[in-house]
Amino acid sequence: MSQANSVPPAPAKEPQREPGLITVLRELPRNVWSSIFRNPLPSSDLERATTSFTNFFLHIHPVKVNRNTLRPLYTLGLGVISFALFLILAVTGILLMFYYVPSTTQAYDRMLDLRGTVAFGTFLRSMHRWSAHGMVAVVFLHMCRVFLTGSYKKPREFNWVIGVFLFLVTLFLSFTGYLLPWDQLAFWAITVGTAIAGYAPVIGQDVRFMLLGDTAVGQEALLRFYVLHVAVLPAILTLLMAIHFWRIRKDGGLSRPEEADAPPPGPAVELSVAPVAVALPSGSARLKLFGLQGFVRTPFQKAGNIPENTVYAWPNLLMAELFVFALTVAGVLLMSLMFAAPLEEPVNVMHPPNPAKAPWYFLGLQEMVSYSAFWGGVGIPTIFVLLLLAAPYLDRGTGGVGRWFARERILANTIFVTLVVLNVLLVIIGTFFRGPNWSFVSPW
Ligand code: HEM
Repeated sequence: MSQANSVPPAPAKEPQREPGLITVLRELPRNVWSSIFRNPLPSSDLERATTSFTNFFLHIHPVKVNRNTLRPLYTLGLGVISFALFLILAVTGILLMFYYVPSTTQAYDRMLDLRGTVAFGTFLRSMHRWSAHGMVAVVFLHMCRVFLTGSYKKPREFNWVIGVFLFLVTLFLSFTGYLLPWDQLAFWAITVGTAIAGYAPVIGQDVRFMLLGDTAVGQEALLRFYVLHVAVLPAILTLLMAIHFWRIRKDGGLSRPEEADAPPPGPAVELSVAPVAVALPSGSARLKLFGLQGFVRTPFQKAGNIPENTVYAWPNLLMAELFVFALTVAGVLLMSLMFAAPLEEPVNVMHPPNPAKAPWYFLGLQEMVSYSAFWGGVGIPTIFVLLLLAAPYLDRGTGGVGRWFARERILANTIFVTLVVLNVLLVIIGTFFRGPNWSFVSPW
């Protein structure tokens, strides 16, 4: 074969030149930054979507969310506030662990150290304390919002059940923390609280013994409450929250009224797509539509398909969440600046306060216990929790989902609001209207 007919050899690849030291140093910040964040700040729809996909923290969000999700008066931001409080509790709790010792001879002294010698010690304790109380209240309010907007209904039944467990674990987490300062308030509140658990028939005393590791609140109880408070319950809560958030996405985002899926007013391109017959194995033919939406840039209405009424999660949802988060942090900071967490006298097992009261969120129970130990402490609370768990499976109507106090849901909402108001009234009575020997007193 002649030389002229042969294919010319591919030009040899130039060896890449290694950058010099100066270039390496000059490009260092940019290279480190781009190794973490693969995309620049998004400026187009495609980049907004890619940012959501490629960021660990953002990929929990869908690329787009329905506009209704961002209506502040719909969710009231209560789920995000609950999560923000949990994060504040985790950070301040870990810092407190550097000082705290779960020992009956040292715990109270460590509290005094936090007040007297540790820089910002009281502030840190106050932040932890107020966030814990706040979380109990906000998680409860979030549960009320979910119920009153009918958001526990299909397909969100199981996420509601996860939520009920989140609420119970939150209560227990706060309760176990109550004992740790080892002052009079802590000791007697837990003594009363665990006595309520003892009223359960057959297993009550065994449950109480398992919780306390003894027949009375003492060193064993302090250690058990500490381990539950700093390790076991936060781990369970974290796992449940991960499932909770994952389920929100899998259930199609937040609940919304049917009309929220209608496209916003504006230019719409109507796509008419030729139907294509698809042969199925059984021999029957079924019509299937293939959309062309991938090629169209303007807002459009897909033929007989999901209507568009969405916005990009980045930056709309993210900014809304960050705003609520910042507001929560500011609220906790302000509260902790204004009010220091209480610290009473050290434990004196011979001198119970009169009356000895459980933590405020259990005062409704304590009030009911004053009428009947079994029904107040065990029977009614168990029925209430079982009703909560069963609610989505019993109330199966589909009307009124995604709207506050929908007319179609008047019966379910009335029952729920009645129970909530009763519970709140009992807590108020137990907190302000009960004095020595649990007799009625006037707070004024
Ligand atoms: C640690 C406690 C909790 C956290 C951090 C949390 C967080 C959230 C967040 C961020 C959302 C979406 C935004 C919002 O609705 O505000 C949400 C939705 C939801 N949560 Fe929770 N939640 C908690 C407890 C509960 C409880 C106690 C229940 C009910 C018993 C519950 C049931 C639901 C349901 C069903 C949804 C979907 C609501 C909808 O589609 O509209 N969650 N949660």
